[in-house]
Amino acid sequence: MLHNFGSINLDHVYRVPHLVRPGETLASHDYRVGLGGKGANQSLAMAKAGGHVCHWGRLGRQDAWARDILSRAGVDVSHVALVDAPSGHAIIQVDDRAENAIILFPGANHGFRRADLNELVAATQPGDWLLTQNECLGLDKLFPLAGDHGLKIAFNPAPMTEDVLKLPLTRCQLVFVNRTEAAGITGLTPDAGGEALLDALVTRLPATEVVLTLGGEGAWYQQGNRRLHQPALSVKAVDTTGAGDTFIGYYMAALQAQLPIDACLKRASIAAALAVQRPGAAESIPNCDEVERAIKGESS
Ligand code: RIB
Ligand code: NA
Repeated sequence: MLHNFGSINLDHVYRVPHLVRPGETLASHDYRVGLGGKGANQSLAMAKAGGHVCHWGRLGRQDAWARDILSRAGVDVSHVALVDAPSGHAIIQVDDRAENAIILFPGANHGFRRADLNELVAATQPGDWLLTQNECLGLDKLFPLAGDHGLKIAFNPAPMTEDVLKLPLTRCQLVFVNRTEAAGITGLTPDAGGEALLDALVTRLPATEVVLTLGGEGAWYQQGNRRLHQPALSVKAVDTTGAGDTFIGYYMAALQAQLPIDACLKRASIAAALAVQRPGAAESIPNCDEVERAIKGESS
């Protein structure tokens, strides 16, 4: 069982002709509310991929429907607490070129206490995977606790903040980063080449497996001297929200099924390519059989 300590958000998605400018009032031509949050998206993707995942999260009492979506997909939600606080939410603008801009209100996601972290670690077995992102607080406490308990930590430092630099990242077995996060961790600029970012990441985290996702330039994996590249599929993006989360959930499920790394990268990339062609975050995550069909289509 993989344990995901992660955010759950309600995503309010507005389609707009362009991202709103300072001082502008802009009409949206489509609006919908759906499940989101990097943590929830990753758990959902992992369950849809056939993985076994237990989500540790917090949601406002009035929003149990969001927990039900996870539960129906097969996520173990016995540690998703309904609390007397507003749920985390995201105000997302998506323009006609599929660019987005997001305002995040953490709400209940920032309500974890030290006791919750202790409870999580006590519920796990040494050797289990712990997955987490940067939308909940307490990671500075959780990493040492989890590491000392023998958990394998997979970390996606998204959204990137200064706090990430203070975390004991060398305790992570695996990190998933995009261009912005790779630049934030290494101090390089985001326009540095993919392989330069990768070189700097493995210098900073020599014992960690690094997965660098670069959108149209595909995804890289490196541990030690072993470097793999998965080319991107060329697709027309409608909404990239949640694509990175889809990648991570599918990757972790493939890893849990003990597939080789190149197969994990391939499944994850194909799942993410399907997700960007649909609106929304959680609702855009493909099912396992769609990914299987796409893999067969690729190789035929
Ligand atoms: O990664 C996508 C997610 O980021 C959205 O679902 C939104 O909730 C923000 O947290
Ligand atoms: Na999407």
